[in-house]
Amino acid sequence: MILEAKDLNYYYQDGEQRRYILKDTSISFEKGKFYTILGQSGSGKTTLLSLLSALDSPHSGEILFNDEDIKKIGYEKYRRNNIGIIFQSYNLIPTFTAVENVLVPMTITENEIPSDKETVAYNLLDYIGIVKNKADRLVNKLSGGEQQRVAIARALATNVELILADEPTGNLDEEMEQEIIDIFKRLAHEHGKCVIVVTHSNEIAVQSDQAFRLKKGVLSSYE
Ligand SMILES: Nc1ncnc2c1ncn2[C@@H]1O[C@H](COP(=O)(O)OP(=O)(O)O)[C@@H](O)[C@H]1O
Ligand SMILES: [Mg+2]
Repeated sequence: MILEAKDLNYYYQDGEQRRYILKDTSISFEKGKFYTILGQSGSGKTTLLSLLSALDSPHSGEILFNDEDIKKIGYEKYRRNNIGIIFQSYNLIPTFTAVENVLVPMTITENEIPSDKETVAYNLLDYIGIVKNKADRLVNKLSGGEQQRVAIARALATNVELILADEPTGNLDEEMEQEIIDIFKRLAHEHGKCVIVVTHSNEIAVQSDQAFRLKKGVLSSYE
């Protein structure tokens, strides 16, 4: 298993009461598979993803990356070297071009990156469907679908094996959604990556290798 969450608990304190968002949640993921976690708005998807991405920490429970507790790895180091994150609203730097956005994580990772970073960035963008002349454009001059592709290329820039995405097609039309799903399938099946997507879209869930449902803080298998 590349990633394992064990007995995660996460709650908000509401006066005297604890309102649990995740209750004894355990889940594990392997490489080469495309996973979805399906849940309605407010079901705790972003919370779960932020714990798996070390953007927040659980009240109890542990998360293991390649059998090592991410707390031991160090949250910042784990984010810098081991994972790629894709957000619904892309979170790109608007005053940077597409290729400059992809270069950002390469400059802060400790992973081994080929010395010609720019070539790597252009190639990644090209692979994801952003050709050279678009790669040199400011990202806020690109369409939503194109910006999401840039965000995917950025998540891949540090050559990680684990990709986490929060509602990555939430702002896209159906055709774009399908293209993004196809990219995730390709990353898992042709490049052996572990791709984890949280979403409220059934369309993505039915096309993933394994789907889970998150409801009232409890995860179950989705049929
Ligand atoms: N700061 C907060 N204080 C109290 N409740 C919160 C806070 N942030 C989020 N929540 C609640 O936690 C629940 C899960 O939120 P979230 O993980 O964002 O769900 P999702 O991504 O599935 O829409 C929601 O019911 C939300 O209202
Ligand atoms: Mg959310």
